[in-house]
Amino acid sequence: MEIYKTLDELGISPEIGERALKHLEPLKTVHMPTYNHSLRVGELCLNASKVAGLDPAVMYLSGLLHDVGKAKIDPRILGKEGKLTAEEMAEMEKHPILSYEMLVDDFHDFSEDIADIALLHHVMQKNSYPKMVIKDPKRIVALLSLMDFYDAYKTRPNSKMKYGSADVREIVTREKHDQKDLIEKLYEAGIFT
Ligand SMILES: [Fe+2]
Ligand SMILES: [Fe+2]
Repeated sequence: MEIYKTLDELGISPEIGERALKHLEPLKTVHMPTYNHSLRVGELCLNASKVAGLDPAVMYLSGLLHDVGKAKIDPRILGKEGKLTAEEMAEMEKHPILSYEMLVDDFHDFSEDIADIALLHHVMQKNSYPKMVIKDPKRIVALLSLMDFYDAYKTRPNSKMKYGSADVREIVTREKHDQKDLIEKLYEAGIFT
């Protein structure tokens, strides 16, 4: 399996790999597009870590596992086309805390805590959640947020209206303008396409 190969190349022990997969696997049955999104964000984070000079093992695991809490969200909400109601949105917004709770005991052996990163992955956006103020967000959280945002616009699993590459580039550059230089580098490196 590709994930095991990548984990092995990053020097991550099979024991940690099994823990990661234990959390990731339920997404397959609950909502396959979220599972596939997680694999892509893991891959994007890994590749971008080299450009950004961040710990590749931490970035890969953070990307793979940031949305595992969605396995506990109603699949009808996860797959709903169009706008969520206020109640559905409130339910959806629980997922970073659920991810944190699932991961908190399992990933202490890294330079950064994977559960903390998952908790914060929607904090650096316009309608941020959970509600908390982070004065100095870590670069690792910023990079994960960027990869998550890019993949969401690139694929738009719950919408028939897809964006072309130029549109995605424009949206990502506009919405994540504080990371403009990094975004340029990611396009130059062919990590963003
Ligand atoms: Fe998320
Ligand atoms: Fe995500």
